[in-house]
Amino acid sequence: MIALHFIGIGMGNPDHLTAQAIRELNQADVIIVPRKGADKADLADLRRQICDKVLRHPVPIVEFDLPVRNSTIGTYLDGVNDWHAAIATTWQRVIRQSLPNGGTAALMIWGDPALYDSSLRIAERLLNSGMPVQIHMVPGLTSFQLLTAAHCIPLNTLGGAVIITTGRNLREKGWPEGCETMVVMLDGACAFQTLEPADYDIWWGAYIGMENQLLIEGALADCCNEIITKRAQARQQHGWIMDVYLLRKRDIRG
Ligand SMILES: C[S@@+](CC[C@H](N)C(=O)[O-])C[C@H]1O[C@@H](n2cnc3c(N)ncnc32)[C@H](O)[C@@H]1O
Repeated sequence: MIALHFIGIGMGNPDHLTAQAIRELNQADVIIVPRKGADKADLADLRRQICDKVLRHPVPIVEFDLPVRNSTIGTYLDGVNDWHAAIATTWQRVIRQSLPNGGTAALMIWGDPALYDSSLRIAERLLNSGMPVQIHMVPGLTSFQLLTAAHCIPLNTLGGAVIITTGRNLREKGWPEGCETMVVMLDGACAFQTLEPADYDIWWGAYIGMENQLLIEGALADCCNEIITKRAQARQQHGWIMDVYLLRKRDIRG
């Protein structure tokens, strides 16, 4: 039997790992690390650095090239489905090669495995294919928790609801009726530009928890252009960027 442990690691800072995450990495028979191309090489490096810092004895680390999503396939969801199938096939191969007699493979998942991460969905494909695997998850600090901590703000207004969504959703569906607070992730195109700037405050962060962390907060009308400019410069400088932001309606108290 193979056990697959999805371990939330926070944002690449060893201080973000829980005691449970550290214990389970140390108990794994192999740690599997994806390589996401030259642009994101520092993310694989961060995973290796975390291993160096938290492993109390040598655990084999196996790296593999993550298949690249083909953006020319059908709809966005067709493309993602096809990509997940390719990743599942790669995982099967890597796991079988690394654990021919069974054992525990750990995968270090950015942030929390349950939040905008498809690893658990891809693992379900392994189960559905008949592969004898047990799936287990260790929660991790999410990007939006680190965002609210960095800005020292509450996530929700008093008794209010929060919507966590993507830049694509904000751009295509707009601000939902009655929404007070929205957290936006996976936004490569600054979807906050589609909103009426006078109506919102924004708390923005990039590379949160990492050494290049950038933070901007204020009225959207005042910060919009600064965020767009800083984001473009940082992306150019580092070759990649991950940012997240919280928007709040200005007429809401709490
Ligand atoms: C594929 S999702 C992974 C989310 C992750 N599982 C979590 O718990 O936050 C990637 C998105 O998370 C956000 N993100 C991840 N790391 C971040 C960081 N260090 N700083 C800011 N945003 C980050 C960005 O919105 C990015 O587009």
